[in-house]
Amino acid sequence: MYNVRKVTETVYWIGGSDRRLALFENIFPIQRGVSYNAYVVLDEKTVLLDTVDSSISKQFFENLQFVLQGRKLDYLIVNHMEPDHCALIEELILRYPDLKLIGNAKTFQMMKQFFAFDVDAHAQIIKEGDTFESGNHVFHFVMAPMVHWPEAMVTYEEKTKILFSADAFGTFGALNGNIFADEVDFEKDWLDDARRYYTNIVGKYGVQVQNVLKKAATLDIAMICPLHGPIWRENLSYILDKYHIWSSYEPEESAVMIAYASMYGNTENTVNVLATLLAEKGVKKIAVYDVSNTDVSELISEAFRCSHIVLAAPTYNGEIYPKMGNFLTDMQALNVQNRKIAVLENGTWAATSGKQMTEKVMALKNMTILSETVTVKSALKEEQYQTLEVLADKMIETM
Ligand SMILES: Cc1cc2nc3c(=O)[nH]c(=O)nc-3n(C[C@H](O)[C@H](O)[C@H](O)COP(=O)(O)O)c2cc1C
Ligand SMILES: [Fe+2]
Ligand SMILES: [Fe+2]
Repeated sequence: MYNVRKVTETVYWIGGSDRRLALFENIFPIQRGVSYNAYVVLDEKTVLLDTVDSSISKQFFENLQFVLQGRKLDYLIVNHMEPDHCALIEELILRYPDLKLIGNAKTFQMMKQFFAFDVDAHAQIIKEGDTFESGNHVFHFVMAPMVHWPEAMVTYEEKTKILFSADAFGTFGALNGNIFADEVDFEKDWLDDARRYYTNIVGKYGVQVQNVLKKAATLDIAMICPLHGPIWRENLSYILDKYHIWSSYEPEESAVMIAYASMYGNTENTVNVLATLLAEKGVKKIAVYDVSNTDVSELISEAFRCSHIVLAAPTYNGEIYPKMGNFLTDMQALNVQNRKIAVLENGTWAATSGKQMTEKVMALKNMTILSETVTVKSALKEEQYQTLEVLADKMIETM
């Protein structure tokens, strides 16, 4: 049975959600599921913007059939050739043999790699600045290279002033009937997942995102329709501002994140003492994470949010404790930069993790190490309290 929603008089949301998938891209935990959005524009010609993941194909085709009311599908605009939105292209061709596919040259190259059908027989190649008219609607194509695939583009429709933004402005999380950001409490229930989605999937490509934001600023946008998560039709500046902050690697908040690793509890105890000191001195909303039981995608998301990051880890076979090493490697992969960092190490016979963590941090752009590494030799000692106090003051001074 269909579960379509009207976006405007002529535009319909025909997506669906997967609440069973444990790991998006087989790597990111998604306890709240994920939605795959697709949109139909009804005009003299019928136009579909992107398909969905194969996991929700049944729902998608029921929705599509309902919206078309017996008409055939004339055009499919492919914004981005990733299988979570392209899985059903071949099936659509089978159902609508006259279907024309609209995309850029690179998109069609990739389509030929993924599929065996005669792509050229259906392809209508567009490039930056081209338009396509379906009757009353005029679609403009804006290239968004490397956000986060090389051929990604976004589509702006002039009449409805909708920006079909592909993965940009997307988020993890199933849609629960409410498909508009103004129908949910976005800040409370969605922002953390939106940040985690952006920072882990697109985070590396801040420069490219800034370029698209500049192009978007020249358009009169009334609505943003992404491929995952809620649609924006009110207060667009809220999400645009977040994207400006995240893509420029500015901290979203003046806040402290403490990421620690600990086997026997001594490093953990040390960061607890530090957190208490910070709290006593007035720092609020301190976020402490055990890197061994926090998914690294959450750690990355928090690293993008917070201005100050404490990294605390034992030495392990002469190296950084592996789970912390993994976080640092991911920070580098996703271009985390421009943060204030404090390093705390532990070791029983030769503590080297501090030096190694510092090296990894210094390999990132525009990082400030706040003070000398705090070294714990097995367990925190009374006489080290003062050192932690100095560190806490230093952090507060720079907040
Ligand atoms: C497998 C293993 C390897 C370790 N390698 C080192 C090492 O190379 N250098 C060192 O000083 N301590 C090493 N340690 C000791 C821990 O770093 C040390 O006991 C530390 O105090 C543990 O902190 P925690 O109580 O927060 O887990 C190792 C411990 C284990 C279990
Ligand atoms: Fe994608
Ligand atoms: Fe996607």
